[in-house]
Amino acid sequence: MNETLRVIAQRRSCKKFLPDSPDEAAVRAIVEAGRAAPSARGRQSRFFAVVRNKQLLDELNSAVKDVAKTLDDEYLHQQGHNADYNAFYHAPILIIVAGDGNKSMVEADCAAANQNMLIAAESLGLGACWINFTLFIFEGQHAEAFRKKLGIPEGYKVYCSVVVGSKAIARSEKKTIQGNDVHFFD
Ligand SMILES: Cc1cc2nc3c(=O)[nH]c(=O)nc-3n(C[C@H](O)[C@H](O)[C@H](O)COP(=O)(O)O)c2cc1C
Repeated sequence: MNETLRVIAQRRSCKKFLPDSPDEAAVRAIVEAGRAAPSARGRQSRFFAVVRNKQLLDELNSAVKDVAKTLDDEYLHQQGHNADYNAFYHAPILIIVAGDGNKSMVEADCAAANQNMLIAAESLGLGACWINFTLFIFEGQHAEAFRKKLGIPEGYKVYCSVVVGSKAIARSEKKTIQGNDVHFFD
């Protein structure tokens, strides 16, 4: 197995972070990995908001939870009301990925960028987790205010996000992969 395959195989979602931000070079490298992801027709019409401001992270977390409280889904409803729950697991960095909502396949473009960032973080020994709860913010009543605050361009939609930071707990257990059926047709 080569290094890239090893990193992909060992990556696990990190849901417990140390409070300090990783060094600047690592953060830049992760964002560059996102930017390097393929996009349909090579459009590269993505926008990355890298949030490190603690107050803004807290505001975003509250906004996620406010929307979750209004949802029918029992798990999400409970998390919205759970004072101990932080949608970003107190990670020091949240990277929000938006894409041009008028372009086809833009959701896949953003997902490709998100996954690249997860792998890049793992390759640097950092923890990361895909967070789609962030999307609730942009369906809620404060959507426009947050779009403005984050500088999300007109016509762009938020499709994914990742949290990144130093792992507070390094998970070593091997993941059981079930489902994801594969058929070979030779
Ligand atoms: C599309 C997508 C959305 C996700 N959204 C969330 C989320 O909002 N919150 C969260 O804690 N984990 C989220 N996850 C992470 C999954 O819970 C995690 O990937 C899954 O449990 C498998 O664990 P692993 O990444 O360690 O293999 C998301 C993953 C994907 C692919």
